[in-house]
Amino acid sequence: MSAKQTNRKPGEVETTGHTWDGIEELNNPLPRWWLWVFYLTILWGIGYTIAYPAWPLVTRATEGALGYSVREEVANEIQRFNDMNAPIRARLEAADLTEITADPELRQFATQAGAAVFRTWCAQCHGSGAAGVQASGYPNLLDDDWLWGGDIESIHATVTHGIRNTTDDDARYSQMPAFGDMLEKAEIDQVVQHVLALSGQAHDATLATAGETVFADNCASCHAEDGTGDRAQGAPNLTDAIWLYGGDAAALTATVTNSRFGVMPNWNTRLSEADIRSVSVYVHGLGGGE
Ligand code: HEC
Ligand code: HEC
Repeated sequence: MSAKQTNRKPGEVETTGHTWDGIEELNNPLPRWWLWVFYLTILWGIGYTIAYPAWPLVTRATEGALGYSVREEVANEIQRFNDMNAPIRARLEAADLTEITADPELRQFATQAGAAVFRTWCAQCHGSGAAGVQASGYPNLLDDDWLWGGDIESIHATVTHGIRNTTDDDARYSQMPAFGDMLEKAEIDQVVQHVLALSGQAHDATLATAGETVFADNCASCHAEDGTGDRAQGAPNLTDAIWLYGGDAAALTATVTNSRFGVMPNWNTRLSEADIRSVSVYVHGLGGGE
């Protein structure tokens, strides 16, 4: 660095006298207006942190002189919407379940509210489009194949109390035995071939015929003589091509040997009656409702 006088013409910018490898630092002061705006923004910033919540403390932040809170604003907004919807929610809770679907205004409100409930509480098991997950035990709610019934009352009861849970005494309950302990391996093979035949799939005819007897003795009490199932026991229809756990020989053998025990939580402790009704109307309206 060296301070070196250069030959400048009048009006040219002065240097600060600093030079690095021949590059000179010019002395251009900031324009006044810019400087003042800059000081103003600093003042504004300080004022803002006094007026509004800003500085983090150990567990919370400074509250600000104006007492503004985003959380409160959100809570107020939610409250405002709840107040707005209170009359129609009251009507929804008071109406007969079948009246809801007959009343266009109630039905529209319930369907929209129900779609939101479904996205939050049901989609993780039944899929965001309610199509279930293939062979996972989470049923498709779009079709008209119902385990426990597809009219609005049945759906409402299923959602309210859940299925095979231990948290609601009124939960829907039934239990298929694990036939691995009760039938010979050969009998299981026969009855599996019979179920393949019932559902119109390729099968071994001799084994399937033998399986008819095994079925009548062990399965018909729940799945019905013709295999079409029994909704009172949540026993699936075995004659359609819709499978909760898979319909090939391997999946059927696993089901018969070890049994299955699909569980759904009860929602009456987590959702309001209006929400349960809404989501039931939503599911009922998805296409399979009876
Ligand atoms: C933890 C996973 C899970 C969640 C969350 C869940 N379900 Fe289910 N749901 C199941 C299972 C598993 C079954 C099938 C039970 C069985 O095998 O009978 C089922 C069955 C049903 C049925 C009966 C279908 C039929 O064919 O009869 C309805 C209706 C239903 N669920 C609606 C809902 C609604 C509405 C919600 C959200 C409020 C929901 N489910 C949330 C797991 C779940
Ligand atoms: C006590 C009643 C009961 C008896 C007896 C019974 N089941 Fe079941 N079965 C059920 C129930 C309930 C389910 C549904 C389990 C679930 O949803 O988790 C089921 C499910 C099934 C499934 C799964 C269907 C699917 O969609 O994936 C098959 C296959 C089946 N049973 C075959 C049989 C056969 C074969 C027998 C006789 C050897 C039999 N069941 C006896 C009640 C019974």
